[in-house]
Amino acid sequence: MKDEQVRELLYQMLETEMGGVQVYTAAIQCAENEDLKEEWEEYLEQTQNHVTVVQECMQKLGLDPNEETPGREVVRHIGESLVAAIELSIEAGEPTAAQLTAAECVVLAETKDHLNWHLLGEVMKKAKGDVAKALKEAHEQVEHEEDEHLYHTKGWARELWIESLGMKAVLPPPEEVKDVDTAIGAARAEQARSKML
Ligand SMILES: [Fe+2]
Ligand SMILES: [Fe+2]
Repeated sequence: MKDEQVRELLYQMLETEMGGVQVYTAAIQCAENEDLKEEWEEYLEQTQNHVTVVQECMQKLGLDPNEETPGREVVRHIGESLVAAIELSIEAGEPTAAQLTAAECVVLAETKDHLNWHLLGEVMKKAKGDVAKALKEAHEQVEHEEDEHLYHTKGWARELWIESLGMKAVLPPPEEVKDVDTAIGAARAEQARSKML
């Protein structure tokens, strides 16, 4: 395994989580649907905890959480861009549209977040000794929450769009109702939506 790239992954993970806090803070302002708002408030709290979990993991591995890397800078730029997109939508003064923008931005942010934790899981399987232990402790606390963040918010984005198009939507989305936490579960929930209308 390439240690340098494992470190890079950890720095990008930390930056993704920090950006996630900003994205959720902006998105919550746009949540008109009360269930969605509650969900995002919960995910914000979890994301704040993920920042701490990654920082602690880095400290165990002897990495300085304040160190900059070019990749980390890119992740920060994307996070700031997502927040700027949500703010732009708020300024336009159309709350339903802003809620859609926010849901899409959360999906984009969570796609990276989910990938990071999946990759950490792969690294963890190959790592040894104290490194494996530190990664495992972090992964166990967080990974299952990332499944929910991504699959549930994807469901929200899809159903809110369907509702905005004037069609009957399943709200809260099937992914939420069925408590989906896997990719295959998300595909099944999406397929079952027509029966839930
Ligand atoms: Fe996270
Ligand atoms: Fe997340």
